[in-house]
Amino acid sequence: MSTQQPDSAPAEEASPYGTGAAAPPSPSRKRVRTHHLRELKERGEKFAMLTAYDMYTAAAFDDAGIEVLLVGDSASNNVLGNETSIPITVDELLPLTRAVARSAHHALVVGDLPFGSYQRSPEQAYDTAVRFMKEGGAHAVKLEGGAEMTGQIELLTRGGIPVMAHIGFTPQSEHALGGYRVQGRGETAQRILADAKAIEAAGAFAVVMEMVPGDVAAEVTRQLSIPTIGIGAGNGCDGQVLVWQDAFGLRTGRMARFVKQYADLHGVLTQAAEAYSADVKAGTFPGPEHTF
Ligand code: KIV
Repeated sequence: MSTQQPDSAPAEEASPYGTGAAAPPSPSRKRVRTHHLRELKERGEKFAMLTAYDMYTAAAFDDAGIEVLLVGDSASNNVLGNETSIPITVDELLPLTRAVARSAHHALVVGDLPFGSYQRSPEQAYDTAVRFMKEGGAHAVKLEGGAEMTGQIELLTRGGIPVMAHIGFTPQSEHALGGYRVQGRGETAQRILADAKAIEAAGAFAVVMEMVPGDVAAEVTRQLSIPTIGIGAGNGCDGQVLVWQDAFGLRTGRMARFVKQYADLHGVLTQAAEAYSADVKAGTFPGPEHTF
């Protein structure tokens, strides 16, 4: 071991713990705004939304050109280990929203209002939404519900908070709806349309439709001037959204029919972890190139 002191300070190593900084914004791409989504609809161009809950996925999806990142309450059952989206709290979702907002330079970042944080009154919704905008850095918020949410949507919109609504199957109402069921079949299709129109009139800038028959979602999309975003609602919507752990195969097990898997990240990570473990046990990691 050398006891000599270096003449000058040694070159700084790359941080082994991440830097907390996302890659710089690309000057050729502007921030996606709510009016851009409407313009895409008017031009008949589709757009993509994904969930994101942390800095690296947010940066990757942003680099890929995903127009909207939703910090969904689905973090409850995709990040925090709960069975459903119901238990997650505002205080749990806010730091994830902040991480995504700090790391996505181009996408529109939407914070999802958790169950119980907005249903009681428009004022409660406004107070929660303000936290998502101020503390989370979100550019908009999403809430679940149709005509019964028009008071909330009106107050938030008047107060300068863009609102994305969510109708059809609304996971926060899983128990009231009697489980995961397609909504809007048969006569109830009219209710989906009425909800969508009420939401639009109240000022929402977009609406997610979850598990709605494709023909019903396509008709709603035709009748609304705001963009519709489908999840299990066929390809007649203006945009599509998926939970990223489903779409890219980090989650394993039975998937909903509407999920298409684009990667097997669980497989990739398992193989990488096995290779690392084998190297450590064989004494081949760290090698000389990893050693100071
Ligand atoms: O929380 C979420 O991920 C969602 C999407 C499924 C739309 O609400």
